[in-house]
Amino acid sequence: MSLLLLVPAAGSGSRLGRPEPKALVPLRGRPLIQWTLDAMDPVGFEKTVVAAPPEKIGEFRDLLGNRACVVAGGETRPASVRAAFFAVEAEAADVICIHDAARPFVTAREAAAVAAKAQESGAAIAATPIVDTVKRAEGGRILGTLDRSGLFAAGTPQAFLGEVLQRALASGREATDEAALCEILGLPVVVVPVSRFGFKVTTPEDLTLAEALLASRA
Ligand code: CTP
Ligand code: MG
Repeated sequence: MSLLLLVPAAGSGSRLGRPEPKALVPLRGRPLIQWTLDAMDPVGFEKTVVAAPPEKIGEFRDLLGNRACVVAGGETRPASVRAAFFAVEAEAADVICIHDAARPFVTAREAAAVAAKAQESGAAIAATPIVDTVKRAEGGRILGTLDRSGLFAAGTPQAFLGEVLQRALASGREATDEAALCEILGLPVVVVPVSRFGFKVTTPEDLTLAEALLASRA
């Protein structure tokens, strides 16, 4: 059994609105993806594959050196995950963690917990319990309030046994994450609650938060 890491990092970060792809945006002077890979280091992944924007492969390779194998990502996150999965050449019993480059504060301990659950049951994802009351609205008007109990915001890592991810990706179904493919196929997915520090750097406010968090830890 090998522990493998796939990092989708090929997004442009349109909501962040920076000229460079999001994974290369500096946080305290270092590209976001370096912080994310640092956080994952103690897990002891045998192989890491990063999906980068096709036109930035050289830059990613120079930056990451032997930390990761860099491949061209796709137009969408699922396409980037697919490209990384193809490159990693996983075996059926391997455990594959998929972790967004944009989540630098997920801890190695949390990632290891997700990987362990995936090894046990086939698939597991990091998620944070919803803390706010959730409303559904249309045209600016509230239609109703959802029952918050049992609601989670799905995050990453999402981890799978090689055979499970192979099956999920081969299903030809479309979904926003790989866990949803398993759900469609009726395969069990375990949820591992993680800290809210697992947030995805998405908007300029998130970048401010990330900088402040790193400063507080320095
Ligand atoms: N991602 C990817 N390939 C894509 C799109 C996204 O590998 N074609 C990656 C991003 O690099 C990121 C993760 O998937 O690490 C989560 O996506 P998101 O936060 O949506 O990043 P972007 O798509 O870059 O941002 P935006 O949606 O604001 O453009
Ligand atoms: Mg996106």
